[in-house]
Amino acid sequence: MTNTDQDKWNARYQAVDKQAHAAQVLIDNLHLLPASGTALDLACGLGGNALLLAKQGLSVEAWDISPVAIAKLKQQATGLSIHANVVNITTASLPKNHFDVIVISYFLEHSLAPALIEALQPNGLLFYQTFNQNQLDHGPTNPVWRLQTNELLRLFSPLVVRYYREESLANEALLVAQKKMP
Ligand SMILES: C[S@@+](CC[C@H](N)C(=O)[O-])C[C@H]1O[C@@H](n2cnc3c(N)ncnc32)[C@H](O)[C@@H]1O
Repeated sequence: MTNTDQDKWNARYQAVDKQAHAAQVLIDNLHLLPASGTALDLACGLGGNALLLAKQGLSVEAWDISPVAIAKLKQQATGLSIHANVVNITTASLPKNHFDVIVISYFLEHSLAPALIEALQPNGLLFYQTFNQNQLDHGPTNPVWRLQTNELLRLFSPLVVRYYREESLANEALLVAQKKMP
């Protein structure tokens, strides 16, 4: 990721008056969340996942490369336990054995998978949802930013799968997976 990427995302968030939405993989699996603990919404954008996680009782870190998105999230986060910060995840490092929950929606950096697994606490849960390569009619045009078939299962194979869907019509893959106890 480069400053150009940051500029691109800033421009998008400045231009649109979008509402933050939580990812379907999180909405459909709220029952798997712990009642408390620490969560990370990575590449959070406007923080739809962060807002939902905080309302469920978690203390949330929300990270995104776009200062515009983070400023907008901060306006929505009053009274909630959300710490929103500008972070470029390609140069930042994730803490080890730290988060009870990590959520990523519509962001893909294939090489991050081992660090994400390490960043989960034992029993911690990863919620992941993004585009696959089944259809290219919406989402990123560059296939590098899309999952190959079964790729989430391969990237996170050290975790225990709790939920998985990959549907050609929906053009996306959805995973919830849990870190084993040592
Ligand atoms: C398609 S948006 C998804 C936002 C949000 N997760 C959602 O589901 O609405 C991708 C997000 O990734 C962020 N992003 C891109 N590169 C990043 C990086 N290197 N580090 C952190 N965030 C990044 C962008 O600013 C943007 O908010």
